[in-house]
Amino acid sequence: MSGIELNKIAAAILLASLIAMMVGFVANILYKPILHPEPRGYSIPITQDVTSSGVEADAPINVQELMKNANAEAGKNTTKKCLMCHTFDKNGPNKVGPNLWNVVGSNKGKVENYKYSPALATLFAYKTIKTPTVVSAPISLDTTNEAPSDPSVDVKKTEKIIQDYLLNNPEVIVRAMEILQQRKKQELEATTNQYIKENLQEINNSTTSPVLGNNSGNIVIVSFYDYKCSYCKKGDKYLSQLINLDPTIKVVLKPFPILGDASYYTASIVLAVYNIDPLKFKTIHDELVEMQHITNEAVDKLLTDNGLDPVLVAEEANKEEIRNILAKNAELARNLKIQGVPAYVINGKLMPGMINLEQLQKIITDIRNQNN
Ligand SMILES: *[C@@H]1O[C@H](CO)[C@@H](O)[C@H](O)[C@H]1NC(C)=O
Ligand SMILES: *[C@@H]1O[C@H](CO)[C@@H](O)[C@H](O)[C@H]1NC(C)=O
Ligand SMILES: *[C@@H]1O[C@H](CO)[C@@H](O)[C@H](O)[C@H]1NC(C)=O
Ligand SMILES: *[C@@H]1O[C@H](CO)[C@@H](O)[C@H](O)[C@H]1NC(C)=O
Repeated sequence: MSGIELNKIAAAILLASLIAMMVGFVANILYKPILHPEPRGYSIPITQDVTSSGVEADAPINVQELMKNANAEAGKNTTKKCLMCHTFDKNGPNKVGPNLWNVVGSNKGKVENYKYSPALATLFAYKTIKTPTVVSAPISLDTTNEAPSDPSVDVKKTEKIIQDYLLNNPEVIVRAMEILQQRKKQELEATTNQYIKENLQEINNSTTSPVLGNNSGNIVIVSFYDYKCSYCKKGDKYLSQLINLDPTIKVVLKPFPILGDASYYTASIVLAVYNIDPLKFKTIHDELVEMQHITNEAVDKLLTDNGLDPVLVAEEANKEEIRNILAKNAELARNLKIQGVPAYVINGKLMPGMINLEQLQKIITDIRNQNN
């Protein structure tokens, strides 16, 4: 089975479960209103003056009866607590909640320029489908036919309506997924940043990782890369150009071979060269970055051409010490949730994917501006 097919199937399953989840969620709101939601950040205290027991509290309110003793001033008093999130004046701005001028009897969820949450948008759409005359109906204060208290609507019907709504308005799902993705991304970033903080020494100052550029530079770029990956090759050339242009940059190299035996072999060879003759490291590294077809013979020739004994280097490369460095790099990459190569950690911030010279310079300028 090809990757594309797998992706399609995965997407279909994801969409199906998402719809199922949202249908369940909205149906829950309709049939089991959450009376005591978990606090989510700042919440506004609302005191309920319900003294009667459950069954009576659910009984329809006779608004006309209540209006006989109504007092507009007292109403204004009551709405003070709403001002935190709403405005009541004509053309007033939307706040956390929408502007409420002239909303009585108007279509629900239709205040202009107000972005309703997907859950509310779905709920309002359901109510509009349920009472389609609401737009043209004369304004009535009789609320006895509100949807949630109507016991004749069964769950199946509601689910069907919501499903139809979601299928006709898939952008609601897309928006929900965007929000979900955004949240996941933020969570991931937070854990990654925490991990970087706790492992700084290992990430940008470990003595076993080869360093290019200024060893005491105040901008540290840690590169996770593979000698067989073409984007890593390009990315490394940009790094070389950068350290030639800017003498305050320290580049820490963390070979992270993920593309098979030749990758692993090359990575262990360069680390061995770094141990045996650190001054020759940069030449060997640069040549391997240039090398398009990596073979044992080509690597041996490169070593010999630079006055290194391939047998000695291979011996060094096979040592446990080198394997431990590569294992450590892989462990760091795994904990940083690096999904591919190249990936960089620039002054403590993970930046996956190749970065060109211009982008690198911009990132560095931004860091400098921040520090000043
Ligand atoms: C409005 O509230 C204030 C203080 O909370 C109170 O003194 C006043 O009597 C109230 N006005 C009306 C009309 O209920
Ligand atoms: C980084 O390593 C050098 C020696 O290689 C050491 O002098 C320095 O204190 C280290 N810095 C940190 C922040 O660990
Ligand atoms: C290396 O970086 C340090 C700190 O930014 C700087 O003081 C020093 O001059 C740099 N060394 C060279 C050779 O540029
Ligand atoms: C490693 O990077 C962090 C984050 O920018 C920085 O604070 C720290 O000084 C760096 N350590 C070394 C030794 O360069």
